[in-house]
Amino acid sequence: MPVVAVINRKGGSGKSTLATQLAGCLANRGLQVMLGDVDRQQSSLAWLRRRAAQPLARNAAIVGWAFGAKSVMRPPAGITHVVLDTPGGLSGYDLARVVMSADAIVIPVGDSIFDRESALECHAELMTLPRVASGRCKVGIVGMRLDARTKPAPRMLAWATEHGLPYVGSVRESQLYPRGAETGLTIFDADADRVQNDLAQWKPVTEWIEAAWSATEKMEATAKTAVPVSAPSIAPTAPAAASRRRTLVRAPLPVPKAPASEFRTSREIVRPTPRAQRFGWLFTVFRAWA
Ligand SMILES: Nc1ncnc2c1ncn2[C@@H]1O[C@H](COP(=O)(O)OP(=O)(O)OP(=O)(O)O)[C@@H](O)[C@H]1O
Ligand SMILES: [Mg+2]
Repeated sequence: MPVVAVINRKGGSGKSTLATQLAGCLANRGLQVMLGDVDRQQSSLAWLRRRAAQPLARNAAIVGWAFGAKSVMRPPAGITHVVLDTPGGLSGYDLARVVMSADAIVIPVGDSIFDRESALECHAELMTLPRVASGRCKVGIVGMRLDARTKPAPRMLAWATEHGLPYVGSVRESQLYPRGAETGLTIFDADADRVQNDLAQWKPVTEWIEAAWSATEKMEATAKTAVPVSAPSIAPTAPAAASRRRTLVRAPLPVPKAPASEFRTSREIVRPTPRAQRFGWLFTVFRAWA
């Protein structure tokens, strides 16, 4: 099941806004969406309660689910897509738990040096996690609350390019978003003609997420069918392994250096008699049996 997580250590960077809008976008396409809330404040769940009171949003229902960072994500039956909202300051073990279930991560970044520094730290930590480092979970940057009158988007793009971060898209500063946070609605629930320019801003973001999801799906399908070819060259060949086994069996067992009186195995207390010495082979068989 495709999962996108919205992550940034910095509080107030626009995670819940991005997560709720993405969930609204998917739900308006007729998909069965869960908005998972890892945040202790559970702002996304509170938003969903406000949404449930909106007649307009009933056609694009979103299921809510809260879970602590330590619990395993188990979406309810019928859910096909998951959006995860996360708290500020998520790092270490809690971050790794969230990333384990994600196929795509978007980091909302505002146009300030603090936001950019925080995003770089967050990205660096994400890159240490095997799921991200192996490319099974893609990470992209979304410029958030960008001033439509100036040109912060090219600046953000230049910064992301300089640091080798995929810049996925920009969302302008607009009252549509705080209002949507209050009403439980998204721009995807609104009349498309009224929010055309804003919908156009989200298009590259949603397209990037879909591309990341299908890339992960392909990688995981390939990994399931792949046959390891290099492993046998490291492992010993069958005859070599067998010969080593024989050597080990033949090697003499170490004899403890203890006085005979203290050494009390059944083999030691059996002493060969002169007659047994004459029939040495029979004695050997007897020792083996004893
Ligand atoms: N594009 C935008 N235009 C205008 N306001 C925005 C925009 N994006 C977010 N905001 C506002 O910024 C504030 C912080 O956003 P949000 O709650 O989404 O951040 P957050 O990262 O989830 O915060 P926290 O770390 O506390 O969970 C909110 O009031 C939200 O309405
Ligand atoms: Mg939040």
